[in-house]
Amino acid sequence: MHEFRYVGNELWCERLAVRPLARRFGTPLFVYSRRTLEDHYKKLAGALAPLDHRICYAVKANANAAVLRVLAGLGSGFDIVSEGELRRVIAAGGKAGDCVFAGVGKTEGEIEGALREGIYAFHVESEPELVRIDRVAARLRRTASVAVRVNPDVDARTHRKITTGTYEAKFGIPFEEVAAVYARASRLKHVRLRGLQMHIGSQLTDTRPFEEAVRKVAPLVMVLAGRHGLEYFSIGGGLGIVYQPALASGSAAWWRSRRARGLLTPARYADRLVPLLKPLRLRILVEPGRFICGNAGVLVTRVEYVKRTGTKRFVIVDAAMNDLVRPAFYDAYHEIVPLTRRRGARVVCDVVGPICESGDYFARDRRLPAVREGDHLALLSAGAYGSVMSSNYNSRPLAAEVMVHGNRAALVRAREPLEAMWARESIPSWR
Ligand SMILES: Cc1ncc(COP(=O)(O)O)c(C=O)c1O
Repeated sequence: MHEFRYVGNELWCERLAVRPLARRFGTPLFVYSRRTLEDHYKKLAGALAPLDHRICYAVKANANAAVLRVLAGLGSGFDIVSEGELRRVIAAGGKAGDCVFAGVGKTEGEIEGALREGIYAFHVESEPELVRIDRVAARLRRTASVAVRVNPDVDARTHRKITTGTYEAKFGIPFEEVAAVYARASRLKHVRLRGLQMHIGSQLTDTRPFEEAVRKVAPLVMVLAGRHGLEYFSIGGGLGIVYQPALASGSAAWWRSRRARGLLTPARYADRLVPLLKPLRLRILVEPGRFICGNAGVLVTRVEYVKRTGTKRFVIVDAAMNDLVRPAFYDAYHEIVPLTRRRGARVVCDVVGPICESGDYFARDRRLPAVREGDHLALLSAGAYGSVMSSNYNSRPLAAEVMVHGNRAALVRAREPLEAMWARESIPSWR
């Protein structure tokens, strides 16, 4: 989080105080640091430099066009999961030829669109999908590049809802069946076997599950590469970030001490995986999302009320679960700090949104500086799986988004006008 820090008593992003941004653009407001995005991309690219590698940023983590443009400018490829994501990448200046297309439910229309645009490869999640891709490619008189997603049945030891590489999950093809699927796929006329892919889960804070999965799958990749002339192995994304304490993280000394303590950093990830991957002599793809943008964004919110009940103190803010659903959905922790620090005691409170659900909370029984109506708070590490998962629940418009670059700030998504929420609805003329 090193681009979010206090200067005196004010929270800054890069070379700008955040509070004036809240006043200028209103709240709830996502604020992104361009420099943090660049720094995280470069840290990972630097660590993986000993490999012939390609970073394919997972668009699902934060799909804002300005974020995509920054990454395209750094030379990133993109991991996409829908036609919408493909169109976004192209609209933001990325190239279809730099996209890999994952997801268990690709429709015929999406496959056709991706083929016409000329994506790099489909990451295929089932045999019926492979057959469908071959059929669509035949109709278009094209050849579809594919990599099968292997489910290695390795537990990522992360949250149940973001574990994807065990046989409980809907993703990929079981490890034991993959070789036979490649054999059958090699007989399809409109499919070119280009790689093998896996992704075991998200928010991994330990390198061991990555190592376990690579150790298990690497021999299979070697065999398949020999048989089918594969050119790449994608090891997916999943690199975890620090949610607690987020503000204190990010300096060079912090990265060093983290590595020394055996915690996940790009350097440690590379130390562990490069020796396993280098002998494969294949191009290695990685698909990080959260690692690139998670700590590059905060959600700024205004305190509307402070309310006491018999047992609790509630800080009611103007952001809600529709803006940042992670606490409600995953019980996720986000550090919360005031935009302006004041002296005074800390108090235990729940930070909640205005939505009519008890699950609409950002923190429970959290010791925070006492705040009053009109104060602003920042929910840290909200750059990934934040705005992309937001909704209009309770007819709340989507929040605005701002990107900071040095001492400049630009609105990168305008707050949704209220009328836009029902503009595509219509009332039938029947009585
Ligand atoms: C196939 C695939 N690749 C990459 C990612 C990105 O994961 P993360 O944001 O944890 O790096 C995901 C996340 O769901 C995914 O499903």
